[in-house]
Amino acid sequence: MSALLDVRGLVVEYPGAGGAVRALDGADLTVAEGETVGLVGESGSGKSTLGAAAGRLLSRAARVRAGSVSVAGESLLEMGSREIRRVRRERLGFVFQDPISHLDPTMRVGAQLRRAVAGRTKGGDIAAHLERVRLDDVRRIARAYPHELSGGMAQRVAIAMAMAARPRLLVADEPTAALDSQVREDVLDVVFGLAAEAGTGILWLSHDLPAVARRCDRVAVMYGGRVVEDGPAAEVLARPSHPYTAALARSAPGKAERGERLEPVPGRPPVLVGEPAGCAFAPRCPMADDRCAGERPVPVRIEGRDVLCHRAEETGAAVEIVPAVKR
Ligand SMILES: Nc1ncnc2c1ncn2[C@@H]1O[C@H](COP(=O)(O)OP(=O)(O)O)[C@@H](O)[C@H]1O
Ligand SMILES: [Mg+2]
Repeated sequence: MSALLDVRGLVVEYPGAGGAVRALDGADLTVAEGETVGLVGESGSGKSTLGAAAGRLLSRAARVRAGSVSVAGESLLEMGSREIRRVRRERLGFVFQDPISHLDPTMRVGAQLRRAVAGRTKGGDIAAHLERVRLDDVRRIARAYPHELSGGMAQRVAIAMAMAARPRLLVADEPTAALDSQVREDVLDVVFGLAAEAGTGILWLSHDLPAVARRCDRVAVMYGGRVVEDGPAAEVLARPSHPYTAALARSAPGKAERGERLEPVPGRPPVLVGEPAGCAFAPRCPMADDRCAGERPVPVRIEGRDVLCHRAEETGAAVEIVPAVKR
């Protein structure tokens, strides 16, 4: 089976004052057709870099050092610019944390949406696209400029634009982080509802672990630019195997507040320069031993999940943390 999104061993670096900062250090991730995957981890763990790489939307400064990215079987990294634009247009949709800055401030919402759907057979009428994201008074909104909208309205417009072409994969990078908690659930309902209708797979970059457990099929937990645990969302977050997932799940607040940063374990997440000798989590890990400090872990498969930990077999599925409920 070839996955819709298949990222293998991806290494991405950004130039930094003290040497190249390794944002991805051999990241592996797949999303199957129609699958919903939550990508979680502290700020700086590499989520946005991985999400952007799914559409080869990395910033100019980024350097891909190794690995591959493919979408629906097509390898993105070797493509010409015309081809990559076609893949984005035909297969991918993106939604970001700050919708206003991704809308054109000089153009009315309706005109932008019309441009986004132009040339698409299923384009349909603008009002219908706005109604689908549960906006009221769609005529007024179509005539408005982005700055006249609330954050929640602007995010719905951005979602309407991203979903207009019924993409195969929607990458949503913390789309609700800047919204109030009530609006947040409504916006997520819209995203997950539209994706389910269209059979669109979702890669949702998030800090909200309980919501990922409720809404996603799978979770991928990132640390130091690698996916350290990957498996069924509700089960993994209820009974983590990786010590980092356990720490993250233990610290997850019931309701994450606006702009909040997770601080699951004492110490700071690493800013990697070059490839670390051992496990990147070892300096903060309560279970670390000599092997962890000196030997790079490879994924171990236990209980239907992949765990990047030398001691995964010992921890097994360790601690009961959140109720294993989904939807
Ligand atoms: N454009 C950039 N230039 C330089 N460093 C960057 C850039 N984007 C991200 N980084 C660095 O790469 C690492 C991963 O960042 P990011 O992918 O944004 O993680 P996350 O989304 O999980 O917070 C961090 O150390 C961050 O500082
Ligand atoms: Mg980010």
